[in-house]
Amino acid sequence: MKQNIYDNPDFFAGYKALRDGDKGLNELLEQPAMRNLLIPVQDKTVLDMGCGLGHQILSLLQQKPMKITGLDISQKMLSEAQQRISSPKVDWVCSALEDFDFGNNRFDLVISSMTLHYIDDLTSLFQKVADSLKPGGQFLFSMEHPVCTATLKPWKDPDGENYPLMNRYSEEGLRKQNWLVEGVEKYHHSLSTIVEAILSAGLVLKNLKEPSSDQELLKLRPDFQQHLHRPPIVIMNSKKN
Ligand SMILES: C[S@@+](CC[C@H](N)C(=O)[O-])C[C@H]1O[C@@H](n2cnc3c(N)ncnc32)[C@H](O)[C@@H]1O
Repeated sequence: MKQNIYDNPDFFAGYKALRDGDKGLNELLEQPAMRNLLIPVQDKTVLDMGCGLGHQILSLLQQKPMKITGLDISQKMLSEAQQRISSPKVDWVCSALEDFDFGNNRFDLVISSMTLHYIDDLTSLFQKVADSLKPGGQFLFSMEHPVCTATLKPWKDPDGENYPLMNRYSEEGLRKQNWLVEGVEKYHHSLSTIVEAILSAGLVLKNLKEPSSDQELLKLRPDFQQHLHRPPIVIMNSKKN
């Protein structure tokens, strides 16, 4: 059964406060890297998989797309997004990605921000995404980096420094985490599994990015030093020929 943790009131309240006050991973690392890779979307049709509170949709609307479908499993997230964004250009769909009818040749852009680590079977999902893209269409996503979803275990190096060390990398599948509430279910996929899922769907991989902190960012957020040891996010940009 698919977990819908964002409809849990405690999780929802915690996540909303975190995301809205965000001066962190999303706003400083992930979103700038995604924007660099985005095709122009004026007059285009877009699907946002796991649209959440609608941050990405709000930003895409500035480019005057023809239509955006905002898809999410959580009714709470969608209701909040609908309160924030009232545009006839957006269709809101409450469904798990796994159950959504993607159709064929529908979208110029399928985008997904920080959602795919909740999905078990990326291979079948990416095939449906590829079929739903028009020729020349873009599939752009970010997700938690496999070195983080693997499992982190505390480790003390010979100088006495404490680091979280990656563990169980090759053992793919369900991981339960305590984040905002107990028992949040995510899925660990190796980097090769994610890339193979793109290639086996017949898509052409154009970019693979692991956004990290630079000196400017470290002045603002000294704690981002940790991301130099371990990339928190992976971004993949692919295209349908
Ligand atoms: C970390 S939030 C990201 C939201 C948004 N993309 C952003 O970057 O602000 C992950 C979103 O994925 C949604 N989600 C998780 N599992 C899902 C699934 N199986 N199908 C559809 N949406 C899912 C959650 O409800 C949540 O809104």
